[in-house]
Amino acid sequence: MRIGKFITAAAFATLMAASVSGSKAQESVEVLHWWTSGGEAAALNVLKQNLEKQGVTWQDMPVAGGGGGDAMTVLRARVTAGNPPTAVQMLGYDILDWAKEGVLGDLDPVANKEGWDKVIPAALQKFSKYDGHWIAAPVNVHSTNWVWINKAALDAAGGKAPTTWDELVAVLDKMKANGITPLAAGGQAWQEATMFDAVVLSLGNDFYKSAMIDLDPAALGSDKMKEAFDRMAKLRTYVDDNFSGRDWNLASAMVINGQAGMQMMGDWAKGEFLKAGQKPGNDFVCIRFPGTQGSVTFNSDQFVMFKVGADKQNAQLKMASAIEDPGFQSAFNVVKGSVPARTDVPDTAFDDCGKKGMKDLAEANQNGTLFGSMAQGHAAPAAVKNALYDVVDRAFNGELNSQDAVQELVAAVAAAQ
Ligand code: GAL
Repeated sequence: MRIGKFITAAAFATLMAASVSGSKAQESVEVLHWWTSGGEAAALNVLKQNLEKQGVTWQDMPVAGGGGGDAMTVLRARVTAGNPPTAVQMLGYDILDWAKEGVLGDLDPVANKEGWDKVIPAALQKFSKYDGHWIAAPVNVHSTNWVWINKAALDAAGGKAPTTWDELVAVLDKMKANGITPLAAGGQAWQEATMFDAVVLSLGNDFYKSAMIDLDPAALGSDKMKEAFDRMAKLRTYVDDNFSGRDWNLASAMVINGQAGMQMMGDWAKGEFLKAGQKPGNDFVCIRFPGTQGSVTFNSDQFVMFKVGADKQNAQLKMASAIEDPGFQSAFNVVKGSVPARTDVPDTAFDDCGKKGMKDLAEANQNGTLFGSMAQGHAAPAAVKNALYDVVDRAFNGELNSQDAVQELVAAVAAAQ
């Protein structure tokens, strides 16, 4: 099915010229997103200010709730009511699902003019394009297999960052003995699934690929998967009793203020440390989840533009262009904790964790060890993701033992396809 031509290149040039000359004030974008934490809002301000400078007014439509589940529910209601927002933050397979409904505008005019094909990696284009057309502007690459450790707590636990599962358990035990909460976690299915991404990957690249990408029942039902649930159960013993329902950024705050030793979370967590004025190496340490060094599970925040009428098209294309601007790609991601979507942005402005993130991503992309995050909707469509969320959440809350969790996972993933 072809997406109707959104706007011709010539019309795009005329409109851009017109906006520069006369009608700046009229232009506005209503943006639905879930960036409401301190670090997220600080990063979003970079984009807002960029657009304001171009005379595009930002109408904010925030829907709180890390991971974006609630935002997608609100979006569905808006579209069903025939009142979609101008632009929406979206992830992975959700973008393709909306594209199939024919409600997304095509960004080809700006993408072709600016040569996005050359600078956006194929792993992202898989979700940025539909039927050969650009339908989303990727703003970043986040990765989920990180651990954020309070430096003082690590020093008090021997000072050596763990590189293997056994070393991780030893550090967590020392932190427990030192009287702090070893592992800060938020009891929400998407957060537990984000930790599960890393635990599965720590048991091998091939295992992650066959279980989470290929959805191979043999891998999903394997002894290795039981080991993955055993590791989750072990991690649960290091979490405090009040973790249920806690937002991810509040778990970050526990590590920031030394109440807890570490958090296993995507690099959006780093945005919170930076917002609190903390520095990598001094106040906190960033490592890849032990056993996943050399591999990356990624997700990319992308902005899609809904077909909301000709009067909004110019502002939408300006927003898309602003998002892919190399200067913006650096400025935004330095604050957000993620790394640029574009492959041609230097790492000069990034801190040591950012530089490591960019290097790890480039190497994993090179070595075939770059995988879509299941928890963040980049490994399988929403139905499968949500089926996994349910099983991982019940297991992490002790409602399922590891063997039962494996069986439930096989059945749930099969039923969701
Ligand atoms: C992810 C998103 C990140 C961050 C995180 C927590 O889904 O990709 O940018 O916002 O949720 O809200």
